[in-house]
Amino acid sequence: MEEAILNALRSRKEEFVSGEELSRAAGVSRTAIWKEIEKLRAEGYKIIAQPHSGYRLAGIPDRLTAQELTWNLRTKRIGKRIHAYAETDSTMDIAHRLAAAGEPDGSVVVAEAQGKGRGRMGRAWVSPKGKGIYLSVILRPELQIQATPQLTLAAAVAVAEAVAAETGLKPEIKWPNDLLIGGKKICGILTELNAELNRVNYVVAGIGLNVNTPGDKLPAHGTSLSEELGSKVDRISLARVLLAQLDRVYDLYLKEGITPLLDSWRRYADFLGRRVRVALDGRMVDGQAVDLDPAGALLVRTDTGLIESVSAGEVLIVR
Ligand code: BTN
Repeated sequence: MEEAILNALRSRKEEFVSGEELSRAAGVSRTAIWKEIEKLRAEGYKIIAQPHSGYRLAGIPDRLTAQELTWNLRTKRIGKRIHAYAETDSTMDIAHRLAAAGEPDGSVVVAEAQGKGRGRMGRAWVSPKGKGIYLSVILRPELQIQATPQLTLAAAVAVAEAVAAETGLKPEIKWPNDLLIGGKKICGILTELNAELNRVNYVVAGIGLNVNTPGDKLPAHGTSLSEELGSKVDRISLARVLLAQLDRVYDLYLKEGITPLLDSWRRYADFLGRRVRVALDGRMVDGQAVDLDPAGALLVRTDTGLIESVSAGEVLIVR
């Protein structure tokens, strides 16, 4: 019932919807509508009631709920099912559990806060309540294990496009999975895999994006969209655009492979051409980041003139 009322109010944004219309939409009495409106207000929805006119939705709570994220979301796979939590240790763990129990391709786990958000290489991901977007997507592509890093590149493109569209900022992608603004990290992507021999059972792609995180809650070398813009960003709207972008890139990837996405990736990869230091097979390699190879590995021209292909590891931008 709550959803029917909200949808009726949303579809007529800026306008009053009569109690009678709402009771028809929800299939309940006008008294029941009044009670539901009170419940929605208690949840943080701002609803103006005006005698003879009805009700108008004047504001929604700043919370990433399944209801808000799925409203009007026209995706093929991503976000068809959304599991939203107020708080959890890590959305990765929940996504793995759900995936092992057969959760479908594209399902999303999102949390307002994480107690043990994790990053790559055993690092933590600082996830203060209501400030960022912390989500994990379950993917079930037909894929060779070696190709899974491509999903990280595809996800980075989706985040970059969503951030650019919603804020006008141009994030920089640092291979393979960091997004930076002004050299500071705004987003990290963690891709975990469940596979047997050479068959991928499923992939969990975790995205952590600092949206309205204040400076004192950010890790060293981190930033947030609000810090960069000097104003708060609408997390719900950004998260919806992010889900739509993830759906777009995933669909493109399934149909055409990584090639069309590499061009988008290059548009954000300002560090190409710069000097980098890369840990490769236990040794440090200095050189220039030149490009990506067709599989998504980073090509580095070393100081000895060799082209090395780096498919995993950390890249340090030297200058
Ligand atoms: C990194 O840059 O090291 C990757 C960070 C990934 C963080 C996200 S937040 C949502 C999901 N849940 C986690 O515990 N980690 C990922």
